Amino acid sequence: MAGQEIISTEPATGAVLWRRMAGDADAEVAQARRSWPEWAARPLAYRIEALRRFANVVRQKADAFTDLIARETGKPLWEARNEVDTVIAKVDISVTAFSERTGQRRIDAPMNTRLALRHKPHGVLAVLGPYNFPAHLPNGHIVPALLAGNAVVFKPSEKTPATGSFLVDCFHAAGIPEGCVRLLIGGADEGKALAAHPDIDGLLFTGSANTGIALNRQFATRPEKILALEMGGNNPIVVWNTPDLYSAAVLVVQSAFTTAGQRCTAARRLIVDQNLYEPLIGEINKLIGRLIIGEPHADPAPFMGPVIDNDAADMLTESFVALSTMGGRPLRHMERPIESRPFLTPGLIDMTGASEKVDVELFGPILQVFRVDTFEEAIAEANDTRYGLSASLVGQDPKLYDQFWANIRAGIVNWNRPTNGASSSAPFGGIGWSGNHRPSAYYAADYCAYPVVSSEADSARASIGLGLRDA
Ligand code: NAD
Ligand code: SIN
Repeated sequence: MAGQEIISTEPATGAVLWRRMAGDADAEVAQARRSWPEWAARPLAYRIEALRRFANVVRQKADAFTDLIARETGKPLWEARNEVDTVIAKVDISVTAFSERTGQRRIDAPMNTRLALRHKPHGVLAVLGPYNFPAHLPNGHIVPALLAGNAVVFKPSEKTPATGSFLVDCFHAAGIPEGCVRLLIGGADEGKALAAHPDIDGLLFTGSANTGIALNRQFATRPEKILALEMGGNNPIVVWNTPDLYSAAVLVVQSAFTTAGQRCTAARRLIVDQNLYEPLIGEINKLIGRLIIGEPHADPAPFMGPVIDNDAADMLTESFVALSTMGGRPLRHMERPIESRPFLTPGLIDMTGASEKVDVELFGPILQVFRVDTFEEAIAEANDTRYGLSASLVGQDPKLYDQFWANIRAGIVNWNRPTNGASSSAPFGGIGWSGNHRPSAYYAADYCAYPVVSSEADSARASIGLGLRDA
């Protein structure tokens, strides 16, 4: 809401990190609209050069950027550093993706003519970001959007505005015109105002399914605007026929609890062969007991930090209790070691035979466990969700992987690898409630430009061969 102050606090300590008044969508869109034509008219080589300078600015500021992301999200320093490296790598990946997927080419045509396939930018694109990867994910839209010749208005999550602001400053420090990358500070109200703005040409969204579905509804009557939705998941990891239960447990723990479970690709459901259940849960429990949970700068480095804030921690704690009341059997209780801070220990709960199943994304360190007797039941259980982002099979039988790959419904299907840790060099997106069939990462190029086909000849020499009376 205009006139409202947005305050960012460090989840690990509660200290105020950053504060600023919410911005005005009208003003930011107007600036972007004014600046866009000049940027779009620049040669591609100019925009590539500018984005390479951006990558260099981020490289130079990598330590400060890492520290800021770690403080603002609570994630460990090593993980924040990976995020900064991903921001830098995005530029070269986007340049390759642009030329491969949305570059230009000639198509031969008859009669001395030619067809030219080229791509044009949409214009002004709005970007709405989430808090879990506050730099990497919006950057994953912004870099390809700018490269294609769009101007951008970016609204970071109200929980991570300082990181959003730092990212935008890096674009400006690289000489990308200030009007071409605008920062809109604010919460859901500013997001709504931006999404509804008549002067945007599209919206690139990463966030929850609830918000994404509301946006999808809103854009249903605006077919002229591009809408790319990257949403959440209720992702399964299936463990079947594997001799190495320790490695299986590591893959499960990495999938479910990295970033304190705040990844869209985090495993939310472990589906396991009844016969492996006892020993596998034993290994997982031992590993959870060894995980270091602490503040981002702690030494030794923690595996995971807190969740984003106390509201999220309260909601997760209540959800764990609610799962128990539905008949879930806690295998490891989720605990909150410091009452006033949102640190949570991983919770593990057996939901086999529970009276109810909830197909919602619990965005934190909760893993639900389901025991099944056959591999077919495992796949059916894995597919029992409205989402379809990522899924993993842990098991040594390639035939089972073939069956899994063929029958599982997800945009990311992994084998003996975690559900998370997706590569920017590949398309990234899901089906069902995980997206609207506009995958991001390498395929972001596709939604940042539209194809234009031109039939061209050097001169206007023409004749009608048939169907004409003599002159
Ligand atoms: P969120 O949906 O609450 O917010 C995302 C952004 O939308 C924020 O900037 C927020 O201010 C804005 N917003 C909220 N309500 C809005 C409205 N009605 N209209 C317009 N804008 C609005 O998501 P979050 O809690 O910040 O992020 C976590 C979620 O993001 C999880 O569900 C996670 O799975 C998902 N996520 C998805 C991906 C992916 O690529 N598929 C990646 C990371 C996170
Ligand atoms: C995310 O975008 O939330 C996670 C991406 C991944 O780790 O796969």
